[in-house]
Amino acid sequence: MHNEIIHGFSKLTEEEKRNFIALLCKESSHAEETFESFLMEDETERSHFLDLSENTISSFHTPYGIAPNVMVDGKVYHVPMAIEESSVVAAASHSARFWAERGGFHVKNVSTVKLGHVYFRWFGDPVYIWERWHVLKLFLLERLKKLTTNMVHRGGGILSLEMLDAKDTADKLYKLELKVETINSMGANFINTCLEDMAEALDLFFAVDNDPEGKKCQVAMAILSNYTPQCTVTVEASCKIEHFIPIAERLPVTMFADKMQLAYQIAQNDPSRAVTHNKGIMNGVDAVLMATGNDYRAAEAAAHAFAARDGRYRALSWCTMEEDILTIGITIPLAVGTVGGITNLHPLARLSLEILGNPTARELMGIVASVGLASNFAAIRSLVTTGIQKGHMRLHLSNILNMLNVDSIMREQAESYFVNRKVSFNAVKHFLHEKSS
Ligand code: MEV
Repeated sequence: MHNEIIHGFSKLTEEEKRNFIALLCKESSHAEETFESFLMEDETERSHFLDLSENTISSFHTPYGIAPNVMVDGKVYHVPMAIEESSVVAAASHSARFWAERGGFHVKNVSTVKLGHVYFRWFGDPVYIWERWHVLKLFLLERLKKLTTNMVHRGGGILSLEMLDAKDTADKLYKLELKVETINSMGANFINTCLEDMAEALDLFFAVDNDPEGKKCQVAMAILSNYTPQCTVTVEASCKIEHFIPIAERLPVTMFADKMQLAYQIAQNDPSRAVTHNKGIMNGVDAVLMATGNDYRAAEAAAHAFAARDGRYRALSWCTMEEDILTIGITIPLAVGTVGGITNLHPLARLSLEILGNPTARELMGIVASVGLASNFAAIRSLVTTGIQKGHMRLHLSNILNMLNVDSIMREQAESYFVNRKVSFNAVKHFLHEKSS
């Protein structure tokens, strides 16, 4: 570790940056080769890919797998998932297959309204600004027309523009709230461009009111909101409880159904469980978002804020039972795109969308939410039956054996030895040592 501030790192060539950083890796003699080995061979693809970010010296691989048989509204998707955590793809796949054989997931509701805000302070007479609002609104909307023509052609555009008093947040603060439909694009650039245009227009509009000593209108910022409670999807799946026999691990189905319901009820009401419950949902959600080049950080932020919308953090999914039919469901905010952004620039993101049949953003919302619900259902099923360690340990063992470069014969022996034993790195090393001595 060099305890020095580096100047001009960004000005170095890609190779110089790699050399420089490799020198920091004292314990790895092949750091530079390792960085290089993770780069794409095709020069053009490689530079397009590295240009997505800054100061790039390599690329960081994540396993890319498929959860087959995710049935959404009768259509079967084989869904790409990019995730490094063991068991997530396997669990989502089992659960998706289970539900596909019982009618699959059904999209109950989709809304796609996105929001953006211009925050500004008005130091003049508050009555005056409300009097001017009607004219200001027309002025802003008229200017926005030049930016929204293409979006309007695609069926989207500005849905509404309102001015809200935000004095609860800060003295003399107002916000302009823009509601937007961005069809198949996530729309971040579009919305931010519109908002920044509005911020500039505010200054122009009040130019005559802004006296030389101090501006009456002072823009604080213009930015989209990643909180998208009006851009949500609801997905459900149901079946008779007798259909749970194959997955109830020998529990009577009524007890299994009861335990499932209780698990969801706990997550609805106890925030410490709800966070973990929702993390299990996001395992599936983020993996599909990653694979399709969507912004999973935005989805995470929105999902958790949405989970706390009534003032208490709760599960995003639920489970109900009527007569002998059990229903699981989820409502989750998902601002996704299937065009624009890196969905078209990242070669694997492009392929992922192709695998899914080039869905619309609305369709992708249904697919993503279904995988989230499938992941969640799989986790809860394990928790109320065998516990999650059983499945995890098999994969954990496989990771340890890979790390230790174990050949296939020894691997087989280790796998059968550890079927009912506790897996740890030391236990596996000990086993291998005993076997080879
Ligand atoms: C692990 O990544 C996710 C779980 O903890 C989710 C849950 O507890 O519901 C298994």
